[in-house]
Amino acid sequence: MTSLSVHRSTGPVIAIDGPAGSGKSTVSRELSVRLGVERLDTGAMYRAVAWAALDQGVDPGDRPAVAAVARTLALSVGERVQADGVDITLAIRGPEVSRAVSAVAANPEVRTVMVERQRQWVAERGGGVVEGRDIGSVVFPDADLKIFLTASEEERARRRPEEGAVAVARRDRLDSTRSVSPLGIAEGARIIDTTDRSVADIVEEVVTWL
Ligand code: DC
Repeated sequence: MTSLSVHRSTGPVIAIDGPAGSGKSTVSRELSVRLGVERLDTGAMYRAVAWAALDQGVDPGDRPAVAAVARTLALSVGERVQADGVDITLAIRGPEVSRAVSAVAANPEVRTVMVERQRQWVAERGGGVVEGRDIGSVVFPDADLKIFLTASEEERARRRPEEGAVAVARRDRLDSTRSVSPLGIAEGARIIDTTDRSVADIVEEVVTWL
């Protein structure tokens, strides 16, 4: 008998959200290794769009122009980040991109394009660990597990020495108060304060929730 449905094993979708410096990247990387699944850093996607806009001389606040950049950008986001074949892994962590990224991420058209790509990424793999700001609330509201990471303001600034406390606070304010998909605690999310905890300890706790 033939079946039109495609059968494949699907793993869990784990959504990890939180402000800058809350430990998302470290925890999600360790968790993905522990579970043997892939990880998607959606912040790197918004950073890549910001980088491409700056590279093309597009004003990050020019919404239609930045949306056009996002739509046409060939993006590859893994341990290395590539945009249109250029390795921008280091460049997207620089101060110019960090300054511009909140305006890019507040652009509704850019978000529509990125969310679609994020869902496609998970559909192709049948699951994974996805980190960002709106993963549990907007991208995967039905995720198997939703985690919201926090840490004290001092600790988060300490983890972002290259950006500086004032710039981190500004970015968090913009990301939390924008009108589209602001950073917030998704319904059903488990909250973890990472301030004084080891990554291994956090990952072991998260695994017990699966
Ligand atoms: O995780 P990060 O600090 O590298 O993210 C960079 C910026 O991208 C962040 O200031 C807000 C934005 N972002 C977002 O709006 N939605 C996401 N899912 C991920 C990041």
